[in-house]
Amino acid sequence: MHTYQLQIFVNKWNSNGLLEICRLSLSIVLLKCFAVYKETVLLYVKEGQRQVNSHCADLEPWQIIGASVITTLGAVYIKGVLFQQESLTSRVKKQCFRLIRKIPFVGASIQNQLNKALDDMSLSLCTLKEGMSYTKQLPSKGLSQSQVMDRIREYETLNEVQWEKGRVSGAVYWGDESLTKFLVKVYGDFAWSNPLHPDIFPCVRKMEAEVVRMSCTLFNGGPKSCGTVTSGGTESILMACKAYRDMAHERGVKYPEILAPVSVHAAFDKAAHYFGMKLVHIPLVNNTMKVDVKAMKRAINGNTAMLVCSAPQFPHGIMDPVEEVAELAVRYNLPLHVDACLGGFLIVFMEKAGYTLAPFDFSVKGVTSISADTHKYGYAPKGSSVILYSDTKYRQYQYFVAPDWQGGIYASPSIAGSRPGGIIAACWATMMHMGEDGYIETTKKIISTARKIITGINQIEGVYVFGNPEVSVVAIGSDVFDIFRLSNALTSKGWNLNTLQFPSSIHICCTVLHTQPGVADQFIGDVREQVAIIMKNPSEKTTGMGAIYGMAQSIPDRSMVTEISRGFLDCLYSTEVPKLNTSHMNGNGKAH
Ligand SMILES: *Cc1c(COP(=O)(O)O)cnc(C)c1O
Ligand SMILES: *[C@@H]1O[C@H](CO)[C@@H](O)[C@H](O)[C@H]1NC(C)=O
Ligand SMILES: *[C@@H]1O[C@H](CO)[C@@H](O)[C@H](O)[C@H]1NC(C)=O
Repeated sequence: MHTYQLQIFVNKWNSNGLLEICRLSLSIVLLKCFAVYKETVLLYVKEGQRQVNSHCADLEPWQIIGASVITTLGAVYIKGVLFQQESLTSRVKKQCFRLIRKIPFVGASIQNQLNKALDDMSLSLCTLKEGMSYTKQLPSKGLSQSQVMDRIREYETLNEVQWEKGRVSGAVYWGDESLTKFLVKVYGDFAWSNPLHPDIFPCVRKMEAEVVRMSCTLFNGGPKSCGTVTSGGTESILMACKAYRDMAHERGVKYPEILAPVSVHAAFDKAAHYFGMKLVHIPLVNNTMKVDVKAMKRAINGNTAMLVCSAPQFPHGIMDPVEEVAELAVRYNLPLHVDACLGGFLIVFMEKAGYTLAPFDFSVKGVTSISADTHKYGYAPKGSSVILYSDTKYRQYQYFVAPDWQGGIYASPSIAGSRPGGIIAACWATMMHMGEDGYIETTKKIISTARKIITGINQIEGVYVFGNPEVSVVAIGSDVFDIFRLSNALTSKGWNLNTLQFPSSIHICCTVLHTQPGVADQFIGDVREQVAIIMKNPSEKTTGMGAIYGMAQSIPDRSMVTEISRGFLDCLYSTEVPKLNTSHMNGNGKAH
C-alpha cells in the first residue's frame, strides 16, 4: 500500500508539479519569516490570546463548551451538505428543476406534456391485434399442451420485425435454424439442472468450468486466469465492479471511483448505482472516438478503484487504446477491466480471420479482467456471458459467502442463486459445435460485411462514419442534416437501427444475418437513396420518433427523461389495452 500511496503522490506531483513547487517554496518562505520575526509573531499571538480571554471573561464555562459543540456540529453538517458523492452543482440543478415543477401553472403544463408522451408510448407499445386480450389470471383448468401451442401461435402474430432477414441492428446474432434445433435439444436435456447443486449436477459444473477455461484460453489468460459464467454482459460487468469495489474498500477507500470512457456501456452506471461507487466519465478524443488517455491519467486519485476500456465500445464500435490505459493501470497499480461484451467473440478470432488489431487481452500487462458475451457473437442462447480475471486473487472478491445462514453455509459465485444449467449446457454445446474454424469463418464474414458498409457509407455525400470502426458496428452521423431524419426514413424502409445520442447518430451492428447475400448492398442502397432525398431539403424539421430522440437530448432536466423512461418500463408490464386515439406514432420504442 505504501508504494501505492507514493505513486499517487508522484502522479499528483507530475501533473501539478509546478503548483507543488510553489507550495513548497511558500512554506519555506513562511518558515524563514517566522524565524526572523519570531518576537513580533509571539507578541501578536499573546495579544490574540488576551483579546479572546477578555471577550470570554463574562461567559460561563458551559456557554463556552456549548458554543464549541454547536459550531463543531454545524461545521460537520455543512461539510456533509457541501461534499457528497454527487457534486453540489448537480444537486442544486436537480433541486431547481424540482422547484420549477412545483410552480402551479408551469408544473401542470409540464405534467400534461409528460402524460401525453406516456400515452403515446403505451399506444405504440401495448396495442394488441383485433380481438386479442390480456390473460390476467390462471386458467381455472389447465389447457392441454396443444391448446397452449395454439395460443402461442396467436401471440406470435404480434411479431412484425423481420430480424431473420438481417433488417435489425444487433439483437439476434445468428438464429441459424439447425443451430437452434441443436440448442433446444441440449437445453431440454438440462432444463432441470442447476449449478447451485454441483453434487446433483456434476456434468453442468464441468461444462461451466470448461466454458470459462476455453474463454480464458481465447483471451490469452495465463495459468492463474479464471472466471465465472454469468447471465449476461451486465452481470459480468457488475461482478467486476463489485470485486474492485471490495478491493478498494479493503484499502480503506470510502467512495471508490470507476474511471471509464463516456462511451462505456450503461452497465457501469448501473454498477456504480448498485454498489455505491462513483462513475467518472472520461471524454473521448474528437474524431477517433477513443478514450482520452491523458484525461484518464489526470482523473486518477486516491479513490480510484478501477480503470475501464471497451473492446469495442457499443455506440461507435471503436476499440479503446487498451495498451496505453494498461500502462496507466500498471503505473498506478490499479485494476483494468476490458469490456469486450459486445465483440469479445469476434476480436479473439480476427487475427486468424486475416484482420489485425492492437493487443487487447491478457497478453497486455495490466489487464486484470475481461467481460465477453457468449450470447452475442458466441452464438449461445440469451442469458450467458463470461467474466474472466487474470488472477484468482481478483475472483475472490467477486464471490459471496454467508457463513452463518440457517439454511447452511451459503456460497455463490455471482448475483444469481439458482442458475439455469440448461443455458450453460447450451452455451458449452454451441462453443464445442462452432469450434475455432466455425468462429473464424463467421468472423471473416461479419468483418468483411462491416468493412463493405463502411466503404459504402463513406462514399455517400452528406453522411460520415464515426472514427475508424475496426469490428462489427458502424455508426453514422451527418453535419448537414439531422441524422434522426435518416433513422425515420430507414425505419419506413423496414430497417431497425440503434439511435445514439451526444452526439446524435445511428448505428448498425452487423451480425451473421447481415452477411446473407444482398443485405449489405440493400442497406447501402437504401441509405444512399434516402440521403439523396433528405439532401434536397437538408434543413427540414424532423418528425416522429426521430424528433423525440432529438428532443430527449435537449431537455436540460434529465429527471424528466428518467420519468418518461420509467413510464416506458411501466408500459412493458401493462396488461391494460390503451385507449385508442387517432394521434398515431410509429417507432420501435427501444430504450436506447
Ligand atoms: C451488450 C453490451 C453489454 C451488456 O450486455 P447485456 O448482455 O445486454 O447485459 C456491455 N457492454 C457492451 C459494449 C455491450 O455491447
Ligand atoms: C472536441 O469537440 C468538442 C465539441 O465539438 C469541443 O467542445 C472540444 O473543444 C473539442 N476538443 C478538442 C480537444 O478538440
Ligand atoms: C387524443 O389525443 C388528442 C391530442 O393528441 C387529445 O386532444 C384528445 O383528447 C385525445 N383523445 C382521447 C380520447 O384521449
